Amino acid sequence: MEIRFPPGFLWGAATASYQIEGGWNEEGRSPSVWDTFSKTPGNVLHGDTGDVAADHYHRYKEDIALIKDLGIPAYRFSFAWPRIIPGGIGQVNPKGLAFYDRLVDGLLEAGIQPFPTLYHWDLPQVLEDAGGWTSRQTAQYFADYAGIVVEHFSDRVTNWITINEPWVVSMLGYLMGVFAPGVKDLKAASYATHHLHLGHGLAVQAMRAAARQPLQIGVTLNLSFVEAASKSADDQKAAYLHDIFQNRLFLDPLLKGTYPQEAEKDLGFTFPAGYEKDIPMITTPTDFLGINNYSRNVVKYDASGWPFHYSHTNPTGNSYSEMWEMAPQGLYDLLIRLKRDYPLNAIYITENGTAVPDGVDADNRVRDSRRIQYLQDYIAAMHQAIQNGVPVKGYFVWSLMDNFEWNLGYSRRFGIVYIDYENDLKRIIKDSARWFSQTIKENGFKIKSYYAEPF
Ligand code: FCB
Repeated sequence: MEIRFPPGFLWGAATASYQIEGGWNEEGRSPSVWDTFSKTPGNVLHGDTGDVAADHYHRYKEDIALIKDLGIPAYRFSFAWPRIIPGGIGQVNPKGLAFYDRLVDGLLEAGIQPFPTLYHWDLPQVLEDAGGWTSRQTAQYFADYAGIVVEHFSDRVTNWITINEPWVVSMLGYLMGVFAPGVKDLKAASYATHHLHLGHGLAVQAMRAAARQPLQIGVTLNLSFVEAASKSADDQKAAYLHDIFQNRLFLDPLLKGTYPQEAEKDLGFTFPAGYEKDIPMITTPTDFLGINNYSRNVVKYDASGWPFHYSHTNPTGNSYSEMWEMAPQGLYDLLIRLKRDYPLNAIYITENGTAVPDGVDADNRVRDSRRIQYLQDYIAAMHQAIQNGVPVKGYFVWSLMDNFEWNLGYSRRFGIVYIDYENDLKRIIKDSARWFSQTIKENGFKIKSYYAEPF
């Protein structure tokens, strides 16, 4: 079967500042919550940190050349707030802006469209010390930072993402404590959730005010299609609540101006007093929704589950990456559901990809056929959703290159380009990158099995 995308469909590759840049203390950058978190023993596997990462801070030219050689039309990266405003508020660091000037100008010269994110989790530590996202002030500081960056770059950059995956910040960062800043408190997570929404809305308005030309602005949510492990009433209820926790707690306020009642009633979230007054700001219109999707969630009732009375199950008989179940149908179901339940004119898949064990063969090739299979299956699912009327305008693979996978450090490789951490961080094009390059060239592919036949 042949899959062809509509003309103008945007293909890209994605990264994030802390995961690739390194140069953690260079040219005025201040520590972020991830520097603090990763340097605290026990938080990150093998004690890995982003101090050097893929050293993109120094090798960005080589990385731009890679994107160009692969014929990838768009590049999603993130600005590091602690490079640009090391104090979190106030003084702008010209050297921080200058690095991103070099990056953005280099991309444009190479004919690559920059598609930046303003916040991919590296909050300046000084702001965390003042309460981080549990403090309402942080939302305003984020908007101030957003306005400054947009004022500087919007002559050249038109597509913008405010915040990457607010769910991860509030739930992994402030509820479960497994990501920076490592807090375990439902009230803190409730406040963080609300302030991230507010920060997004305030930022959209600050960005529009600072823009030098009309911009396309969106937020990126990590959404997963949720299914119950069985037809039992308990499991169905568990799935219903998990969908609220994972998806609707973010979609509903942003797109409908409401928090699902059950978030307070059944899950115990408590939003700041008077939060209703912020709803008009939170629902400030945007131009697209960004979606990061990797897997689906299957949940069952579990009286001893934490932080809620359910747990995740891994259905047998399916394929798994080193992280999650490979579930392309879940992306299709998610997209159809979004079209059904929310007013959306444009969606970008801002991340999709997989971590599978890969390595360099003697002939210097990385034969990552399972990654190719995954990408093909997910892209085909997305195509099917487009055929059925879902307005998906573009797709970004996660990730351009192997990188610091948060609390799992360098143990998971998501890249379509291999980073040889043992050998001077050499970049090696994986088979999946060649496959992706070909897919972009043809704006689609003929479906075949890569499990059986390595690319
Ligand atoms: C997402 C993050 C991204 C990356 C992938 C695997 O949650 O946005 O930085 O770590 O997962």
